[in-house]
Amino acid sequence: MKGVLHVAPLAVLVLAGPAMGQDAADFFRQNCVSCHTIGGGRLSGPDLKNVTQRQDRAWLVQFIQNPQAAMDRGDPIALRLREEARGVVMPRIVGMDQARAEALLNMIDAESKLEKSQFVGLQISDQPFTPADIAQGRRIFTGDRPLAGGGPACISCHTIRGLGGLGGGFLAPDLTKVFERMGSRASLASWLLAPATPGMQATFRQRAFTSEEILPLVALFEDTGRGGGQDARVGNFVFLLFGLGGAAAALVAFGFAWRWRFKAVRAPMVEAGRRVRGLV
Ligand code: HEC
Ligand code: HEC
Repeated sequence: MKGVLHVAPLAVLVLAGPAMGQDAADFFRQNCVSCHTIGGGRLSGPDLKNVTQRQDRAWLVQFIQNPQAAMDRGDPIALRLREEARGVVMPRIVGMDQARAEALLNMIDAESKLEKSQFVGLQISDQPFTPADIAQGRRIFTGDRPLAGGGPACISCHTIRGLGGLGGGFLAPDLTKVFERMGSRASLASWLLAPATPGMQATFRQRAFTSEEILPLVALFEDTGRGGGQDARVGNFVFLLFGLGGAAAALVAFGFAWRWRFKAVRAPMVEAGRRVRGLV
């Protein structure tokens, strides 16, 4: 059973052939939502709502197939978009060709006309997360609360600050500072909605995280990024106790040694004194 689950994502990758129908939406979900929403605001890439109305369609078809080439040509629109994206260049998407680019733009057109596109992305408020949100995130991370999609817990591959004795995996990057790397709540949440890297896709492509999992995880990573990590604080406290205990033990031991040392030094002196007196 385990073997079958491991093979499945590869099979999907191989089957991803030319664009067709509903396939455009699936392709968008798997390859684009980590950087773009349709009507949900900018992530690392622009909001694509009504993009075909603000850009020439033929230009878009070409750009989507090879964004870097447009930059290299010095295309003024591409350069302006890159500036607005603070220097991030859209990557070349595996499996992209003209037919797929056209199908994607048709799909984006249709979604733009809806009051609420399925691709508005996760809407996260700017309100501070609660300690309960963070605690939930930690439970998901450690596997204390199993993932709804059935994937393995983050802790089997990743670590974060504050896991205490549990440790965590080192197969994958330490996620303590991942919030900073992703830049914002919206970017991190969108990334988790459709993880765009091979290791994560191999495990989770068919077992997507739910928004009820993503929000607490974002809360957790925002907290660890700011120096949080409840267990770490407990750990420090224990360390402090050990420290105090250690210091006390050292004083006692030192006291013994000192006393012994006094005796050890004094005895021969007294002895010598006696001997001197005896001699006199
Ligand atoms: C890693 C992030 C990333 C991914 C993944 C990504 N894009 Fe982009 N996209 C960008 C950025 C950033 C820009 C702005 C131009 C630039 O800086 O490269 C952009 C620009 C665009 C534009 C032009 C937007 C405008 O306002 O004119 C379109 C259309 C677009 N992307 C479509 C897509 C589609 C479709 C996919 C998926 C097949 C996709 N992008 C995947 C980051 C990304
Ligand atoms: C089977 C191992 C495995 C599990 C389980 C796993 N990951 Fe990952 N993850 C990886 C690997 C490997 C990478 C490095 C990039 C890649 O190859 O995908 C990664 C990268 C990431 C990144 C990007 C890190 C960065 O700095 O760019 C995030 C965020 C992430 N994982 C979140 C999670 C979360 C949240 C969970 C649990 C819900 C999880 N991962 C579970 C293997 C795993």
